[in-house]
Amino acid sequence: MAGNIKIIRSIKKMQAVSQQMSRKGTIGLVPTMGFLHEGHLSLIRQAKKQSDKVIFTIFVNPTQFAPNEDLSKYPRDEKGDIAKIKAAGGDIVFIPKRENIYPDGFETYVNCEKITQTLEGKSRPTHFRGVTPIVAKLFNIIRPDIAVFGQKDYQQVMVLKKMVVDLDYPIKMIIGSTVREKDGLAMSSRNKYFDASQRKEAICLFQALKTAKQLIKSDSITETVKLRASMKKTIKKICPTAKIDYIAFSDFESLKTTNKVNKNTICSLAVKLHGVRLIDNMKMG
Ligand code: PAF
Repeated sequence: MAGNIKIIRSIKKMQAVSQQMSRKGTIGLVPTMGFLHEGHLSLIRQAKKQSDKVIFTIFVNPTQFAPNEDLSKYPRDEKGDIAKIKAAGGDIVFIPKRENIYPDGFETYVNCEKITQTLEGKSRPTHFRGVTPIVAKLFNIIRPDIAVFGQKDYQQVMVLKKMVVDLDYPIKMIIGSTVREKDGLAMSSRNKYFDASQRKEAICLFQALKTAKQLIKSDSITETVKLRASMKKTIKKICPTAKIDYIAFSDFESLKTTNKVNKNTICSLAVKLHGVRLIDNMKMG
């Protein structure tokens, strides 16, 4: 239900408000880069179920984009986002300024070393070195009791969970299920980059995951080589120009690659379609 919403831009103010709030009850945090869709809003609802107040953050974090990535054109809609957060029941929106998060001379990074070497980390080697410090900073500023992240960025959640354990943050990490469009496309702010016909082809990631799941279920195929080959065919049939970055089968805790699917396997993939890089994943077990 919509209520009053407070917009905070200053780090000091945010610290003071969350300190005050934590004396009265628990705080749930939903960190985002804005341009909100139903996937983000479902995270607010999850956070609301498990905490007294929900703080939502919007910050397009420059350090997690490589120089050749889409930082400058990353979609933004602050006014629309605030209205959506209000309608979804968020209590506070923290929208810090870039120069305050990264003042001149900023040089301290939190780096999770191993789990970041695979999947996204292999293709985007500087990405997680940008994600962990911003989330650590948000944790330090807000001191939430719980934090909710979407499963679409599965490796990100696992990296952040590792950071929480290794750095002793007293924060419960919650994974919100991926929210999909009617045809199965995982919701993402980047879906906005497609025109109508490209958008139709973007379902190839979900269809490929479904292909693998179906082969495991109905034909008992567990060899990842075979599954990967069928997934590639599915992708190319829907979008012949697609550039597959990776299709990986891994243990869903350690993210170590597996050659045979078992009940703990997650399949993740990254595909570039018409210049837009999308990721998705699905548990196979
Ligand atoms: O998932 C995102 O939107 C971002 O990576 C996050 C966690 C907000 C950090 O900038």
